[in-house]
Amino acid sequence: MKARLLIPILAMFVVVGCGTDNPFDRGADLPNSGDTGGEVTGPVSFANDVMPILQVCASCHSGGAGGWIYTGGVESYASVSEVINQSSPEESELLVAAIGGDGHGGGAFFTAGSSEYQTIVAWIASGAEDN
Ligand code: HEC
Repeated sequence: MKARLLIPILAMFVVVGCGTDNPFDRGADLPNSGDTGGEVTGPVSFANDVMPILQVCASCHSGGAGGWIYTGGVESYASVSEVINQSSPEESELLVAAIGGDGHGGGAFFTAGSSEYQTIVAWIASGAEDN
């Protein structure tokens, strides 16, 4: 008897849980919402999530390649803020360059479907905070 009650209740959790897992899932609002290669499942931190991804950029950009200075130091948030587009995250110069678009001198570091890309998109889309 107890098992018969439990199963529908468990099934409800599974159904409800799947739909709300990802706080950054804005459905059709994201241009690449069909691209689920890199799922991002929680609040994204600039210091803990975004900066480690951008570490590879410092080898060229600490010297200011292309006019963008990025050292990975204390001014990182300010310098990243200059190359992002909050109203359209995927058009951010930062992301276009990182996937090798627009003839980026440094080439490509990850793809548009990667977790790196999705992490940065989610960070920008959720307000690009210095968190
Ligand atoms: C091997 C060297 C190198 C690395 C590593 C590198 N870049 Fe670049 N980047 C360049 C050069 C050279 C330019 C200038 C030419 C150009 O605009 O692409 C540039 C330009 C840029 C620009 C300015 C584009 C503009 O139109 O103002 C941005 C933003 C940028 N890179 C972001 C990044 C990011 C993000 C990373 C890391 C994921 C990165 N770069 C890694 C060499 C590099």
